[in-house]
Amino acid sequence: MTSKEQRIRNLHLEAFGDTEGPIVSELAGAFLSLPDSISICVERGDKEIGNIIFTPFHLIDHPDKVCFLLAPLGVLPEFQRQGVGAELIAKGIAHLKSLDADAIFVLGHPRYYALRGFEPARVLSPYHEVMTHHEAWKMLEIKPGSMSGAGGTSMAAKPIMKREFWDTSGRPS
Ligand SMILES: CC(C)(COP(=O)(O)OP(=O)(O)OC[C@H]1O[C@@H](n2cnc3c(N)ncnc32)[C@H](O)[C@@H]1OP(=O)(O)O)[C@@H](O)C(=O)NCCC(=O)NCCS
Repeated sequence: MTSKEQRIRNLHLEAFGDTEGPIVSELAGAFLSLPDSISICVERGDKEIGNIIFTPFHLIDHPDKVCFLLAPLGVLPEFQRQGVGAELIAKGIAHLKSLDADAIFVLGHPRYYALRGFEPARVLSPYHEVMTHHEAWKMLEIKPGSMSGAGGTSMAAKPIMKREFWDTSGRPS
């Protein structure tokens, strides 16, 4: 693991705190070791203060669609609520546009992503049988209309293809 990868892992550990931090940090490390993941940082000086990772996301019934899962997104606690998260999402969208991608999917705070243009996802998440908090499962069309006929199930990158990442039953509504 490079020192930058280690710093990004530490960033997520701090951002997500004692309960979620360790598992999210490990997930970030696993994603960073994949050749086709996209990691973007916002820096202050020579320090990474926020990071967003995108990994390929497959729509089983629409194999031609180029989609990505957004996870994780983390900002160091002392830099939160200063627009860094929004900047990371904007940078990510611009980058994925340049790759001619169709859409981004995310499982996250419903209000946070709704405010940034995300809408209810039109495909089922992996392990959809444990997805009880449906408003948290969202998508953003990068190409307008690209998801208009979408449906069916989906598959994410291997490190996140575990039931516990998709089980929302413990989340507050
Ligand atoms: C969630 C997170 C990535 C947002 O990044 P940020 O840089 O703090 O967010 P921005 O400054 O771009 O946007 C701030 C707005 O986002 C919303 N927001 C911030 N944190 C939020 C949270 N935990 N839940 C819901 N909304 C939140 C608020 O509307 C806030 O506006 P306000 O300060 O006027 O109330 C960051 O707070 C973070 O790393 N949190 C801990 C890790 C985490 O939960 N990540 C999961 C993302 S799904």
